[in-house]
Amino acid sequence: MPVKKIGVFTSGGDSPGMNAAIRAVVRCAIYYEKEIYGIYRGYQGMIEGEIEAMNVRTVSNIIHRGGTILKSARSQEFMTSEGMQKAYEQLQIHGIDSLVAIGGDGTFRGAHEFYNLYGIPTIGIPGTIDNDIAGCDYTLGFDSAINTVVKAIDNIRDTANSHNRLFFIEVMGRDTGYIAVHSALAGGAEAYMIPEKAMSVEGLIEILEAGAQNKKSSSLVVVSEGNPSGGAYELAQKVKEKFSYYDTKVTVLGHIQRGGSPTVFDRILASQLGVAAVEALLEGLKELMVGRQGQRLVYTPLGETSSVEKGIETDLLRINKILSI
Ligand code: F6P
Repeated sequence: MPVKKIGVFTSGGDSPGMNAAIRAVVRCAIYYEKEIYGIYRGYQGMIEGEIEAMNVRTVSNIIHRGGTILKSARSQEFMTSEGMQKAYEQLQIHGIDSLVAIGGDGTFRGAHEFYNLYGIPTIGIPGTIDNDIAGCDYTLGFDSAINTVVKAIDNIRDTANSHNRLFFIEVMGRDTGYIAVHSALAGGAEAYMIPEKAMSVEGLIEILEAGAQNKKSSSLVVVSEGNPSGGAYELAQKVKEKFSYYDTKVTVLGHIQRGGSPTVFDRILASQLGVAAVEALLEGLKELMVGRQGQRLVYTPLGETSSVEKGIETDLLRINKILSI
């Protein structure tokens, strides 16, 4: 069946660059003379019929804005067969015959099941600050988020160094340490604590003691929120009990990392992936995520995009060890 009406939505945690991707999808669909509909609040809005026609001007002046003009949600109802049925009926009412889903692994799990049940062609665009999606080097929003984190680390370094302090900085990433590893390396941190390569508190203290012996006047530890031996507050407490060389402080960056204007990298990635998603639908592709690997666009079945298949970059871990002495 030829594509006539495309629906686009954002789902799960928002990330910088989602608006740039929506803009690209809308404008590319119009360029190829297709109708384009915005579905608000992800799968929940699909169920509730929050669907509106979009045009070139609906997406004016959003390329630089964080968040998502289509809003987002984590819908429990869509995970039920009744919820999916309602969503399908709403798409039928609006005559939507294909979908572009912008989000992370939960979004793609939902899209995969929905496609299996109702067969509506769906192309995914990876959008999450966590970077925990296989089939792409980087997800939309990851670069913006780590830039925000590194700015914060730079600021913390100034004050840490002025007071002979040890800072534990907690960053997001749910079950993965991408944000922690990249921002620790770019921010020159002494150590990171991540789920993929668990380190004991004793191991961390050894690193900090070596730094103190090497005349470091301050130290920074980036802690991923999913770290198995505890978050920043818990770790700071455990370390303080055994190692009192520094005055110890904690900063939890939280949702500051999720907002803000997307970087140039994210805007370009969003524009590329948005156009590629629409063109994939027009070429008759059905149930894939489009991602960039190196300079190439790569298409991965939605059911194979889950984080477990990606793995953290071990070379970055090695480099951080060499450089943080
Ligand atoms: O998936 C993106 C993310 O920001 C994670 O890093 C974090 O664990 C989670 O979302 C927080 O979700 P919420 O904003 O719903 O609390």
